[in-house]
Amino acid sequence: MEKSYLKLFENNKAWAQNQINKNPDFFNQLANGQSPEYLWIGCSDSRVPANEITGTLPGEIFVHRNIANMVVHSDMNMLSVLSYAVEILKVKHIIVCGHYGCGGVIAAMGNKQYGLIDNWLRHIKDVYRYHYPELDSIADETQRARRFVELNVIEQVHDLGKTSIVQNAWNNNQPLHIHGWAYDIKDGIIKDLGATFTGMQDLHAVYHLDKQSPTVEK
Ligand code: CO
Repeated sequence: MEKSYLKLFENNKAWAQNQINKNPDFFNQLANGQSPEYLWIGCSDSRVPANEITGTLPGEIFVHRNIANMVVHSDMNMLSVLSYAVEILKVKHIIVCGHYGCGGVIAAMGNKQYGLIDNWLRHIKDVYRYHYPELDSIADETQRARRFVELNVIEQVHDLGKTSIVQNAWNNNQPLHIHGWAYDIKDGIIKDLGATFTGMQDLHAVYHLDKQSPTVEK
């Protein structure tokens, strides 16, 4: 088999040298710890790398990626990332960034069986069901998929707000904004979907959790 991966080591050496040329202290500074302002929840799609498309450097964005940028409240991986980002790193912004042409979203619109991944896609299908009057009314399939991508992102913004992690931060007056964005792989531009949550008022009351009572010391 061709050892195509060897070029990654070469690229890496050149990249590290380039960073040092630009800023001799670059790695020393990063070695001291991270304090990113952003948590990025994006799609695993290789065409949507968080740092590159936002022009940010290592150290600036805490990243979680999965198929179709989902916030599934039983996903221990996502919850652990969210908890660490909000409670320890105290990020100020959480960005859910979907992308047009998302294979996961397109697959969820159809009825084909793909195997194990169908269990993941079902969460995306739920989003379709919540919004089927709007989505079914869009005759053009590409346009319907684009809207589905947007609605899926917006639902994930809601799903973040539903977590006790985010609500406890808000209830403690920790500044934390949640944003819903969509990236277009055709032109490289990110669109703000305007679904920004800044506090409990943005979340339907049925999801509100009472403020955590302080621990009683004995
Ligand atoms: Co995708």
